[in-house]
Amino acid sequence: MSHADDTAGTRRDFLYYATAGTGAIATGAAVWPLVNQMNPSADVQALSSIQVDVSDVDVGTQLTVKWRGKPVFIRRRTEEEITAARETPLADLADQAAENANIDASASAEDQNRTLDEAGEWLVMMGVCTHLGCVPLGDGAGEFGGWFCPCHGSHYDSAGRIRKGPAPRNLPVPVAAFVDETTIKLG
Ligand code: FES
Repeated sequence: MSHADDTAGTRRDFLYYATAGTGAIATGAAVWPLVNQMNPSADVQALSSIQVDVSDVDVGTQLTVKWRGKPVFIRRRTEEEITAARETPLADLADQAAENANIDASASAEDQNRTLDEAGEWLVMMGVCTHLGCVPLGDGAGEFGGWFCPCHGSHYDSAGRIRKGPAPRNLPVPVAAFVDETTIKLG
């Protein structure tokens, strides 16, 4: 073998390994999240649900907690907020689906299908605008007395349902439940 052939061979080998290496990295990156979701370890499962003490949340205030890297709004609604949400006709809603992970996916967006308790005092939602993912402002913000996303002007009502602006869907209600009188479990 001449010196030139030797160099070419080495170069081909180098390119081969470089390509194989890149392929392996790309595959690893693509596969990992899927495996992670399909086969969660005990650690991942434990982290995926949290318990929130809501004993200090007064009527008319909101607690925001971080869960799975995203904000979750826990609002204890006033009588006025509950009444306004319950008196809104379904026909006025842009998204008529409950968007509530705790009930059937076909359930409609009546206020009763959005809240955690029957009286409608507790509303738990992901604090992520369904337009492009900003965190909406709360405490009765916007034209419908609920939340307002200033990024592009989306208005949500006191049940977190989209009423005006570019957001296509109601703020989603995650899997949540009271585990005792003052503790809400997310996930
Ligand atoms: S991200 Fe909320 S309106 Fe665009």
